[in-house]
Amino acid sequence: MSTKPTQLHGFDVERIKKQFPALNSQVNGKPISFLDSAASAQKPDAVIEAMAKVQREHYANVHRGLYKYSQDTTTAFEQARHTVATFLNANSDNETIFTRNATEAINLVAASWGAENLTSDDEIILTVLEHHANIVPWHMLREKIGFKIKVVPICDDGAIDLDAYQKLLTDKVKFVGLTHMSNAMGTILPVKQMTEMAKAFGATVLIDASQAVVHMDVDVQNVDCDFLCFTGHKLYGPTGIGVLWAREDVLNNMRPYQGGGEMIEKVSFEEITYKDAPARFEAGTPAIVEAIGLGAAIDWLGQFDTADIQAHERDILDYAIQEMQKINGVTLYGPDDRASILSFNIDGVHPHDAGTIFDQMGVAVRAGHHCAQPLMQALNVSSTIRASFAIYNARNDVDRLIEAVNKVKKLFC
Ligand code: ALA
Repeated sequence: MSTKPTQLHGFDVERIKKQFPALNSQVNGKPISFLDSAASAQKPDAVIEAMAKVQREHYANVHRGLYKYSQDTTTAFEQARHTVATFLNANSDNETIFTRNATEAINLVAASWGAENLTSDDEIILTVLEHHANIVPWHMLREKIGFKIKVVPICDDGAIDLDAYQKLLTDKVKFVGLTHMSNAMGTILPVKQMTEMAKAFGATVLIDASQAVVHMDVDVQNVDCDFLCFTGHKLYGPTGIGVLWAREDVLNNMRPYQGGGEMIEKVSFEEITYKDAPARFEAGTPAIVEAIGLGAAIDWLGQFDTADIQAHERDILDYAIQEMQKINGVTLYGPDDRASILSFNIDGVHPHDAGTIFDQMGVAVRAGHHCAQPLMQALNVSSTIRASFAIYNARNDVDRLIEAVNKVKKLFC
């Protein structure tokens, strides 16, 4: 059982947890241990209130009205963009495009940059750790264009195989798509180093930072990639809002992904000219309230030191690994260099059965392929049980997980 108090590394987890209303409810008559934040995190009051406030006080469409409500909402919306740009250390707010999620951001890059810049003679590189969101859009583009997709494997421990990556890099490689952190195993990729290696061959690099932004500082100047995206709902923000970052010259040389209102300079039935980024890629009424909610989530997270969050989450992960290793017949996946995710299987038990029993005990995990089927194939499994840890989890959540695993073993083994 846990030996350390939940107050660790400068913050009080119980106090943090109280700010998340959904964590203070009961599930099946039991308090919830929410261990599925890698799928979607819970939202603090600060986010819920920021979204309610704009709708209560001055909601209107943005960039379109000359009246006060519209101007106030536009200011709040653009302030959220500024918050995101600062969060990523972007050079300018114009480098930050609001999308629906990371999936839409990657589809945008594939459909716009990819369609204009890739040919049938080219090769692109992805890793076996990618979420389907960074595989399927490239598949779909390959169906149209016919380039070759090469895949970086993992080593036996689940770390990315950098030697294999080096060998895949050639002058034919025009694009490299990398997850910063695997959603299925937590593996952290050395994206700065991998970007530098790709750039030595002139390749354009996209980083999917959807998991990483939650657990570590992500600085686009430091990584020096060409595109970086993340989604809001894993970052304690709302669904329906994501971010694509790229430099202004890159964005302004790309064709718009979708057409509609406010992304044009001039339209007639004869001709059309487009605005520069970010408007160029934000056709139609954007997710106004959600963008403001994302800004509030980043502001909320900003009160904590990233090093403290990392130390806290690492403590929970290490404790979970230690306790899980005491149980016979449990296989853990993932290298040492990982964050906040414990992916595992119990011999002779289907992950869905385990997940159902866990739920009866108030423990919420994801069981399945985690939208990473190629990785599951590489691990030679069809699925895993995934417990993912967030800022509001504590060692007592791990104790409940271990209790649930022991109960499943008693029932099935
Ligand atoms: N990408 C989300 C996950 O990892 C849905 O569960």
